[in-house]
Formats: sequence, structure tokens, C-alpha cells
Amino acid sequence: MKHIYTGKTKDVYQLEEGNYLLKFKDDVTGEDGVFDPGSNQVGLTIEGAGRAGLSLTKYFFEKLNEKGIATHYVDANIKEATMTVKPAKVFGKGLEVICRFRAVGSFLRRYKSYAKEGQPLNAFVEVTLKDDELQDPPITKDALDMLGILSADEYEILKKLTQDICRIIKDDLASKGIELYDIKLEFGRSEKDDHIMLIDEISGGNMRAFKDGKYIEPLELEKLILS
Ligand SMILES: Nc1ncnc2c1ncn2[C@@H]1O[C@H](COP(=O)(O)OP(=O)(O)OP(=O)(O)O)[C@@H](O)[C@H]1O
Ligand SMILES: [Mg+2]
Repeated sequence: MKHIYTGKTKDVYQLEEGNYLLKFKDDVTGEDGVFDPGSNQVGLTIEGAGRAGLSLTKYFFEKLNEKGIATHYVDANIKEATMTVKPAKVFGKGLEVICRFRAVGSFLRRYKSYAKEGQPLNAFVEVTLKDDELQDPPITKDALDMLGILSADEYEILKKLTQDICRIIKDDLASKGIELYDIKLEFGRSEKDDHIMLIDEISGGNMRAFKDGKYIEPLELEKLILS
């Protein structure tokens, strides 16, 4: 097993047969000890956060695979906090695809002169560059195409795929009395045949979910969804 990348919340290894192994850590993003899924730095360590994030990721990726959506997921070992995945080539140096159902977070900060806090957004999709130094700047379809990161046709595929996936997640949460406000996904191209697949994780660490108007922390979210 070869170590290839140290991320903020996961470490990445290459397995002998060619797959990747993602090791989920107890580090979560945020600032000054307060968790924030939109943050680009490790803000705190919460015991059990890695396993909780992996448990939710396993749950959602298995659900998506069952529905025929292409993902990198192979299997997961909750005890070890590891997940085996198919290797992907990311777009450019990596993109984040955000799907918004209500106006909060960076959307609200940017557009506060026009948007009301919590206003419904109906699966609005935004793409940002993964660039911690520049705080993940949003990038348009035209810029992605012009810069050779993602063609205009691929952008449309990615947008539709994102909305389909996020509506499945939103409906699942809704069946448990939880409302999804926004969520971040990552995609890549399969190293084998270039098809676009969902990669990375789907956990409390990259979504904002509310119950009875109250924000739910990642560990609590895992309990609510999986119990
Ligand atoms: N199937 C895959 N193939 C290749 N790289 C992947 C795959 N799944 C996830 N990754 C990458 O592995 C890394 C996982 O580490 P981690 O989530 O800690 O990321 P990070 O980029 O440091 O932080 P953040 O995502 O919070 O900005 C990410 O860079 C992610 O894009
Ligand atoms: Mg990450």
C-alpha cells in the first residue's frame, strides 16, 4: 500500500491491485473549534467523526450504486475507517460541485443584497475550483470550457448528475424529517474508460442539514439517518 496524498479530512493510499484506499480521519473542517462544512481548514478533531463520515458515505454511495449512478465506491470497512474506491482523474486540479436548496453559507455571503437567508433555491448548482489559497473561487461554465477544464457538454452532464444525486439525498433525509439546505460533491473521470463518476464522500462534513429549524452537527446527522 502506497501513501499518495494527505488531505485535510482523509489520507489517500494506492492499493496493490490499483484501487485507492481512503482513510477517514477524525479531523473536520472549521474555524476556532467550530465546525463549518464550507471551511478550507481543519478546525477541530471530533472523536468518531471519521467513522461517522464513512458510515454515511457508505450508506449513500450504496444507495446511488443501486440506482445505477456511476460512483467510485467499491467497499468500506467501518472499523478501520477505510473505503476502497476506483481511482479517478479529477477535472483540472479538482472541482467542487455545490447543490443548493436554500440560501445559506457562501451563496448568502456573496448575494446578500439580493437573497434572503434561507430562501428556496431549487437545486441550484455552482462549481468552484478546489483552491484553498483562493478559498475555492466559483467558476462559470464558459470559463471551465475556455480554460480546458471541462467542456460545455460535460458541464451539462455534471449539472444534471449533481441535481439527480442531490435530490435522491434530499428525499432520503426528508423521509427522516431532516431538510437538506446545501451539499458539496466531487466528480472525476474513471482512469479505465474516462466516464464521469461521483468520487470522494457524502457525509455530514459536506452538507448543511436542519431538523425543526435547527442545524444538525455531522455526528448527530449520522445517528439520525442511520438509526
Ligand atoms: N476516487 C478517487 N480518485 C482520486 N482522488 C480521489 C478519489 N476520491 C477522492 N479523491 C481525492 O482524495 C482527497 C481526499 O482527501 P480530503 O477529503 O481530505 O481532501 P482535501 O482536498 O484535502 O480537502 P477538502 O476536500 O476538504 O477541500 C481529495 O483531494 C479528493 O479529491
Ligand atoms: Mg475533501
